[in-house]
Amino acid sequence: MTRRTTVTTTSPEATGEVASTLARYALPGHVVVLAGGLGAGKTTFVRAYAHALGVVDPVTSPSYTLVHHYRCGAGAPIELLLHADLWRLASASELGDLALDEPLADGAAAVIEWGDRFDATRGSDRVVVSFEVVDDTTRRLEVSLEDSSLTDAVLEALAT
Ligand SMILES: Nc1ncnc2c1ncn2[C@@H]1O[C@H](COP(=O)(O)OP(=O)(O)OP(=O)(O)O)[C@@H](O)[C@H]1O
Ligand SMILES: [Mg+2]
Repeated sequence: MTRRTTVTTTSPEATGEVASTLARYALPGHVVVLAGGLGAGKTTFVRAYAHALGVVDPVTSPSYTLVHHYRCGAGAPIELLLHADLWRLASASELGDLALDEPLADGAAAVIEWGDRFDATRGSDRVVVSFEVVDDTTRRLEVSLEDSSLTDAVLEALAT
């Protein structure tokens, strides 16, 4: 059993729908790793993911600050969503600066752009979404539950 599926999207909105579907399964301590090149759609994904969790603050890529904190809406399964972007991280030794472990242990969830860099999220309960740019408007998203405690119901939801 591979525990992964591929979804092809032909618009930013369709990528957002994949994110909203995954957000339905968000739980405290969970991490979503977004892997893929510049302009692949990672921040687009995070916007929809946050929106689905009732976040009303604007979602922008963390750059100067490494991590953004978003308060989720009432009734969301988590209260706090962390948004990190490891693109500018120079080395694995800076990973500690992110300080994600404590809020994750305290019940937050996290979405991490370039979260595959330096093997940064190894060991976390994570869903890995890898973006491949096919053309201007088409992206192939591979969603892997290999390192996740989520059930295959997620894959079925993504397929419908
Ligand atoms: N199917 C699609 N899914 C997502 N984005 C798409 C799609 N088709 C076109 N786009 C466009 O691609 C761009 C994706 O930009 P976005 O900032 O989300 O990428 P990113 O992966 O976060 O890049 P970076 O690594 O620079 O942060 C947007 O301009 C978006 O409108
Ligand atoms: Mg981005």
